[in-house]
Amino acid sequence: MNVLGIETSCDETSASVVRHGREVLSNVVFSQTHLHAPYGGVVPEIASRSHVETLPSIIVEAISKSGLAWEDIDIVASTYGPGLASSLLVGLSAAKGLSIRLGKPLCAINHVEAHIYSIFLGDDAPRPEEICPFITLVVSGGHTSLIRVDRVGSYKLLGRTIDDAAGEAFDKGANLLGLGYPGGPVIDKVSRMGNKDFVKFPRGKHSYGVARFPGVDSELCFSFSGVKTALLYYLKNSPLMTGEEDKRNSIAASYQEAIIDALIDKCRKTLTGGLNLACAGGVSLNNRLRLRLAELASERKVRLLLAKPEHCADNAAMVAGLAGTGCGICGQEALELDVCPNLETGTCKV
Ligand code: KG4
Ligand code: ZN
Repeated sequence: MNVLGIETSCDETSASVVRHGREVLSNVVFSQTHLHAPYGGVVPEIASRSHVETLPSIIVEAISKSGLAWEDIDIVASTYGPGLASSLLVGLSAAKGLSIRLGKPLCAINHVEAHIYSIFLGDDAPRPEEICPFITLVVSGGHTSLIRVDRVGSYKLLGRTIDDAAGEAFDKGANLLGLGYPGGPVIDKVSRMGNKDFVKFPRGKHSYGVARFPGVDSELCFSFSGVKTALLYYLKNSPLMTGEEDKRNSIAASYQEAIIDALIDKCRKTLTGGLNLACAGGVSLNNRLRLRLAELASERKVRLLLAKPEHCADNAAMVAGLAGTGCGICGQEALELDVCPNLETGTCKV
């Protein structure tokens, strides 16, 4: 079972070929970061235009690197949500066209569920039945959710952010600190040279607004808009002067710690009854978060599952992998499907 996966939900253009849902034969990712950096965030119009320009060659490269021929592809899979509508449309339309041209079924995949699946990619990765049930923290530029996974295809959303995503908080914080875009990697880097106890930023313990998300526990919801505003006011009262790199590094470290404390606090609350712990998404590349998650897993004597670095941020291998397990909306229904920018977790059919 060879699946060609396509991922264009935000600002990464990616195509991948995965065999039997695990063996990654190729995973080509084109990051548009340099196109969005001057604006301090993703510009949807630029993202979709870039997907249109780049996707055809990325797909050809993925097929070529896989060592397979077009006729070896059994399924064409694409993300159909959540994400930016104009970006999703490029990948889903390309996948529909390829599915018809190749005469192979189309499979539409939920992006967040693909992130969750990313921990199972690779021959050496554990198998789902060894790990389930588990709690997973999906942390990226667009999502921050805590989800209970009983098996691949069975998800229960426990908590989510009520405003900004954790990655967004990193990106906006880095912008305020003059550290450029994307903010996560650079805050991660400079924080190692700073003092995390320099400023005590708020930890976002909010429970309001949860009525908007029925069935979600208010105690397990996140809020990151407060910490970002706290940083804004801190810098207004105590502006950074030229040459104050040490102070900047310590403010960044304190800001990072506030975000991570909030993430770990909610993870701790969900880790009952020996459930294993997993984390996926771009922010799961963060070194301090990885360390704190490892400490938590060891404290609770449970396993910690993290995706390989190349499968943390947006990539098509996770899409092809999940489709290879039989999950997703497939066949004629997928061909008739529109993109779904606000798609919820738990919509993937098995
Ligand atoms: O998963 P991803 O590629 O895209 C979305 O689905 O949103 O995640 C991108 C996010 C960005 O906000 C970026 O700043 C953040 O992941 N990120 C990090 C790190 N590397 C990337 N955040 C914290 N520490 C990192 N090392
Ligand atoms: Zn993502």
